[in-house]
Amino acid sequence: MNIIFASDHAGYRMKLELIPFVEDMGHTVFDIGCHDESSMDYPDVAYPFAEAIGKGEYDRGIVICGTGIGVSMCANRVKGVRCAHCADPLSARLTRQHNDANAIALGGRIIGIELAKEIVKEFLTTDFAGGRHQRRVDKIENR
Ligand code: RB5
Repeated sequence: MNIIFASDHAGYRMKLELIPFVEDMGHTVFDIGCHDESSMDYPDVAYPFAEAIGKGEYDRGIVICGTGIGVSMCANRVKGVRCAHCADPLSARLTRQHNDANAIALGGRIIGIELAKEIVKEFLTTDFAGGRHQRRVDKIENR
């Protein structure tokens, strides 16, 4: 799959560690920034990240800030984006099965890198369950 990554300065280091992990899983990664640890405003990367997903330019997205909260708030304002703020692997699996999440938001200052890798692994390997969940996802999108 084509995977878009974005982070602010607080998520930058985690992003750098996750990119080779995702590439090793066989995916193609696009990192739209930020590109160093200089302080910046997370909406400036979270909106371009989400707009690209909303337009269908990428299969999935991973966005990281200090808590994961600010970037998820931005991402979920963009039509077509279903971004789950995840801090555990089960939530990552269930948001794929039930919500067909096309993005996850991680807190680079909240969780460790090994936990983040487990979350990302579930996010990228779990299929949407469809069925009754498709009706519910349609209700998210057709509001
Ligand atoms: C940056 O200090 C921090 O506010 C940001 O990374 C994020 O946690 C916001 O939700």
